[in-house]
Amino acid sequence: VMESTISITVVGASGDLAKKKIFPALFALYYEGFLPKHFTVFGYARSKMTDEELRTMVSKTLTCRIDQRENCGDKMEQFLKRCFYHSGQYNSEENFAELDKKLREKEVGKVPNRLFYLSIPPNIFVDVVRCASYSASSSTGWTRVIVEKPFGRDSESSAELTRCLKLYLNEDQIFRIDHYLGKELVENLSVLRFSNLVFEPLWSRNYIRNVQFIFSEDFGTEGRGGYFDSYGIIRDIMQNHLLQILALFAMETPVSLDAEDIRNEKVKVLRSMRPLQLDDVITGQYKGHMKGGKAYPAYTDDPTVPNDSLTATFAAAALFIDNARWDGVPFLMKAGKALHKRGAEIRVQFRHVPGNLYKRTFGTDLDKATNELVIRVQPDETIYLKINNKIPGLGMRLDRSNLDLHYAARYPREIPDAYERLLLDAIEGERRLFIRSDELDAAWALFSPLLKELEEKKIAPELYPYGSRGPVGAHYLAAKYNVRWGDLSSDGQE
Ligand code: BG6
Repeated sequence: VMESTISITVVGASGDLAKKKIFPALFALYYEGFLPKHFTVFGYARSKMTDEELRTMVSKTLTCRIDQRENCGDKMEQFLKRCFYHSGQYNSEENFAELDKKLREKEVGKVPNRLFYLSIPPNIFVDVVRCASYSASSSTGWTRVIVEKPFGRDSESSAELTRCLKLYLNEDQIFRIDHYLGKELVENLSVLRFSNLVFEPLWSRNYIRNVQFIFSEDFGTEGRGGYFDSYGIIRDIMQNHLLQILALFAMETPVSLDAEDIRNEKVKVLRSMRPLQLDDVITGQYKGHMKGGKAYPAYTDDPTVPNDSLTATFAAAALFIDNARWDGVPFLMKAGKALHKRGAEIRVQFRHVPGNLYKRTFGTDLDKATNELVIRVQPDETIYLKINNKIPGLGMRLDRSNLDLHYAARYPREIPDAYERLLLDAIEGERRLFIRSDELDAAWALFSPLLKELEEKKIAPELYPYGSRGPVGAHYLAAKYNVRWGDLSSDGQE
């Protein structure tokens, strides 16, 4: 049998994502020996560059993990030797045909597989896919394309994008990335649920009071205002990253671990959800702030953002799943930029213990005594369960304590970046962590009407100071459903 080779073309090679994530992830995979024996990496972009110049650019982005320092330099050199560059227009079939010719030279004598990573703005997705598919797809191996959001800005534009992509590609050639699905603790969610006896029986309205999905960044949109202003935080984080985590959290047990089985369950749970209501959403936007003698900018101070922009940089929402398992349980989401902390967490608040014998020892605040499971996706990955415990000694005093799985202590090896997992899966044709088009439709169906209403009614976001905890409206929204937001955790006990 003929050996195969893979050509990985990063379209938009000089962009931010390529430099920050894609090249470093490819190198990390190479270092770990996960890339196939035969591979080449091509950068494609408009600017003129030689192979050598590309290598210099890429080399600046590569790092080795702490436990890989030894032969790091050699490995980098070997990797860079396999990197090439082709300059061309994004809408030129001719330029892609030239790329094809270069790829063929590297593929001689092997079954050629081709992976295109579209690290480019969405308005040229379709052009590139057309050109790549007509002029540079593999003749005898497979051709796959990785695309990353934004997939449109509402149901219609997303459906239109899907329709156009499918003029040139089959669904199984399209790998839609949501990089949160490549994060270690998000992947672990299913393991936690389905391979432990102790969680799944509690995983329903019978025992869970509410679930919270919290995303927080301690920096603003600096430098990305142009992109961000036409999307906003709801499209940037909630409709994809947080909703994907929610779907994995809430889905029924899949028939198997096969991609189609898992994605079927995700679609099912998404379709059981109520579209968001304006009453169940609050939005915010950060304003300038002086702190410790330092001035922090307002969102609208960004030169690429209009002064009267109503784009939300913060949002909180209550969502509901109308199925037997989750009827009436509030799923709360909160996402914001320019807040006091960086972090992403899932918080599961369990119900009160009925007829709690120890009620008196907690005073009046029984909420504080309920069990809570916290899955801290980042930073400093941790899973912990808050329990009540007797304080050792002769008296009977209770205390809150954590059963704690702290990744840095338990698994000292550095955790791979999400893009490593996802690139490897795309190379291997594993689709489990990629978004299928019906899943994307279902996700948009939940958010589109709300987004439209926010825009049509010109709902003004509540201003909050840069570096604060966000608008108080989020607390009122939670209070409406008897929920108190958990505070993003710090190390140790809460
Ligand atoms: C991206 C958003 O999808 O995710 C950014 O467009 C956000 O606005 C980023 O900063 C967060 O990703 P991570 O992996 O740094 O949490």
